[in-house]
Amino acid sequence: MAKLIPVDPFDCVVFGATGDLALRKLMPALYHRWRDGQIPASSRIVGAARAALSADEYRAMAREKYQAFFPDDPIDEKTWKGFAERLAYCELDAGDAGSNWADLSALLDPASGKKRMFYFALPPSIYGDVAANIARAGLKTPQTAVVLEKPIGFDLASARAINDAVGRSFEERQVFRIDHYLGKETVQNLLILRFANAIFEPLWNANVIDHVQISVNESIGAGGRASYYDKSGALRDMVQNHLMQLLCLVAMEPPLELAADVVRDEKIKVLRALRPFTAATVKENSVRGQYRAGVIDGRPAPGYEEELGRKSDTETFVALKAHIDNWRWAGVPFYLRTGKRMSARRSDIVIQFKNVAHSIVGPEAGALHPVRLVIRLQPDEGVKLMLMTKDPGPGGMRLKYVPLNLSYAETFTRRYPDAYERLLMAVVRGDLALFMRRDEVEAAWAWVDDILQAWSDEAVKLYPYTAGSDGPAQSAMLLDRDGREWF
Ligand code: NDP
Ligand code: BG6
Repeated sequence: MAKLIPVDPFDCVVFGATGDLALRKLMPALYHRWRDGQIPASSRIVGAARAALSADEYRAMAREKYQAFFPDDPIDEKTWKGFAERLAYCELDAGDAGSNWADLSALLDPASGKKRMFYFALPPSIYGDVAANIARAGLKTPQTAVVLEKPIGFDLASARAINDAVGRSFEERQVFRIDHYLGKETVQNLLILRFANAIFEPLWNANVIDHVQISVNESIGAGGRASYYDKSGALRDMVQNHLMQLLCLVAMEPPLELAADVVRDEKIKVLRALRPFTAATVKENSVRGQYRAGVIDGRPAPGYEEELGRKSDTETFVALKAHIDNWRWAGVPFYLRTGKRMSARRSDIVIQFKNVAHSIVGPEAGALHPVRLVIRLQPDEGVKLMLMTKDPGPGGMRLKYVPLNLSYAETFTRRYPDAYERLLMAVVRGDLALFMRRDEVEAAWAWVDDILQAWSDEAVKLYPYTAGSDGPAQSAMLLDRDGREWF
């Protein structure tokens, strides 16, 4: 097993402990870190929400949900017992200063030097109030971190208001804004791939790269989250954060080191160099879609409006052609695409290099394809370099396009932590490198706000697509016009 990075003992309060995120991702992540021996025994975990539950009832709820979400990972009784002994529950309305803050305080270690983390798995509209309530209740110590889930706001103005409100109670160094894509193994590996291999960086620019594609396709629909999702849509829910963070990591200049602000300084330069969308350019460079009923994996899937129970103009699919106006990327399109209820769950970053300037073989040898680097984030993580080779055998000089393949499943057989496990431990270590700084979030919103404004000004159409397809036909046309296609 790989060596664990030890963390100091900590107290962790999860606000919104009865919600989907807490029970599906956060409690399992903490349990896995406990199981691997990374969480010191003197740590405490407190779930807090408004429901009247005893600690035992909450432990039973967390356990039941764990089993439901991880059916192939049976609970080890002894390990769970140890975890449950560290897990408490507090009935609390985190948005209300008059709630049971004294009860929460009593569950925390009074030692002021101990790490303390408050995780806001809550509606973002109350983040400012919750931050103020923590401070007012005297729970803020110099070692305290607050962890804010996305979305930070709904647009630039509301993001600024949330950041201002939280900033009145906590310094920026104490604020950990989560984008769980930054915790994914393959996303972190992108930095190593780019900057720890001498062969890529000299080629990583407009001279050699033809274009970049970033796709995050999901087969799930909005489902039980439809009422939240309908106010958000794919652009706010996925592009403003996950896809833009991926774009930053692909496009940024080499950071001097992996220190938080060094990396974040490079990312913000990319965000500021993104060409704004305007009413004049938006129709040509963006596609909005919404799924209709269809079939995924042989099973019928309802349409978005059926799930929501009413008509809606919210996009569940978006494709964009973006440009980064700087020296490195001038003229290189970045195609971004994300959608729900697509044919399969698949997230890839594709770097398409230019074709060779001259072919040394005739057309009878077969098609000459350009080198393509594919970084697959999920489901089967890996890195693939597509190259031209000679097809071996007696057939003369025949070309074949083949992959040099790094499959994580085959190469790394041990289990490695998922994104939330990694990010939670990074909070405890105080490592901000995997979290978004305030200016990044706001720069991303500024770019997205322009798109939303241009969509509204130009009444950009919402194209239907069938659940189980690859999105509306207009998405293929966005690339087809440039002589390209989605991979
Ligand atoms: P849910 O609606 O499932 O849960 C929200 C939780 O917050 C519940 O436990 C609710 O419990 C609690 N809550 C609401 N208001 C208050 C309050 N005033 N004081 C204390 N507790 C409160 O939401 P999710 O878990 O899905 O999402 C939580 C946050 O995480 C949101 O910001 C969401 O956007 C974000 N997020 C969620 C993801 C997911 O996969 N679910 C992914 C990425 C981000 P009660 O009403 O009993 O208090
Ligand atoms: C969340 C979005 O941030 O990311 C969801 O709110 C989406 O709509 C999810 O389903 C995707 O995350 P992952 O890790 O499953 O790709």
